[in-house]
Amino acid sequence: MAKRIGILTGGGDCPGLNGAIKWATKTALDPLLAKSRREKMEVVGIREGWKGLVEVDPDDQTSLDRWILPLDEMVVRTWDRYGGSNLGTSRVNPFSSQEDRSEAVIEHLKGLKIDALVAIGGEDTLGVANRLFKMGVKIVGIPKTIDSDLSGTDYTLGYDSALNVITEEVDKLRTTAGSHSRIFIVETMGRHAGWLTLESGEAAGAYIILIPEYEFEVDRVCQLLEERRDAGARYSIVVVSEGAKVKGEGEIYYNDKEDDFGHKALGGIARFLAKAIEKRCGFETRHVILSHLQRGGSPSARDRLMGRRFGIAAVDLIMRDNYGRMVSSLKGEITSVPLEQAVEKLRTVDVERYYDTRRYNGRMSTLLP
Ligand code: F6P
Repeated sequence: MAKRIGILTGGGDCPGLNGAIKWATKTALDPLLAKSRREKMEVVGIREGWKGLVEVDPDDQTSLDRWILPLDEMVVRTWDRYGGSNLGTSRVNPFSSQEDRSEAVIEHLKGLKIDALVAIGGEDTLGVANRLFKMGVKIVGIPKTIDSDLSGTDYTLGYDSALNVITEEVDKLRTTAGSHSRIFIVETMGRHAGWLTLESGEAAGAYIILIPEYEFEVDRVCQLLEERRDAGARYSIVVVSEGAKVKGEGEIYYNDKEDDFGHKALGGIARFLAKAIEKRCGFETRHVILSHLQRGGSPSARDRLMGRRFGIAAVDLIMRDNYGRMVSSLKGEITSVPLEQAVEKLRTVDVERYYDTRRYNGRMSTLLP
């Protein structure tokens, strides 16, 4: 009998997901590989992440049509070129404190005759995957998040595309900032990890980069801006992470609503900072919140490549019956790590190694030993 694989994408979408689905599907169904492993596989997509597995009724065809999409080579053929998730995604948590639906998920997997599951996601989705694995579900993970905050991997799908979006947007702002002689504050995502902000700021050549891992002082920001104005610069770009904090203050939230995983939506630090700068140093200042634009668009070449490699590696793990692991990229090599390790703590920026706390920017000293 064929081994039936289910694939789902959970949490925030990003470019690269569709490529991972495509390559996992192609690898599972490849006739030559099937011959050498003497085992056939089938693949189904589960719509809208864990929500699909919570909601689906395996005995009802209408429900199956709504939540399950059979995948084959021709269905996924062109998917790798497109951003987002063609399976849809959600932030539904089967272990939600409101209602635990994990047993229903396990029942539904049995009803769907799914032997192994590929969960593509970040800390929340893979945290659920890890808990289900401990309850006996055969599961492997693929890392994705523009926040790049998963442990056990140097790369998470979507990150490179988001870096490129931010760099392009900052480039566009430069001309208008220069014409008007203004300061621009650009707010980026990343939640509690500063990677996206730090590396996009470095790539875009931002003058000031503010990350969650190091609390900043508005006076120091103003001082740096004044120094630069005195040196003759007509404008400056400040890139600030949505999770960055003024020294001694808390994070700024867009609203107080918590999602199923207990996260509140961050947002508003750029507006706060723009006002503070105008008030304290009198520079005309505007702010831009890049928000979900950072997760939009088509995947960069790197995200297509990594989607392919991670998709293939996930099916490799399933072929070897090696579950409870996340495929990963470490020092340029594709490998895998236990899901437990991937989700046990957030991978945040090591300030001492990568951040210049006097200049509020990436370090300029060499990282060579
Ligand atoms: O985790 C990815 C991410 O884009 C974070 O950077 C951001 O804080 C959050 O998701 C936004 O979530 P939502 O799409 O639910 O608004």
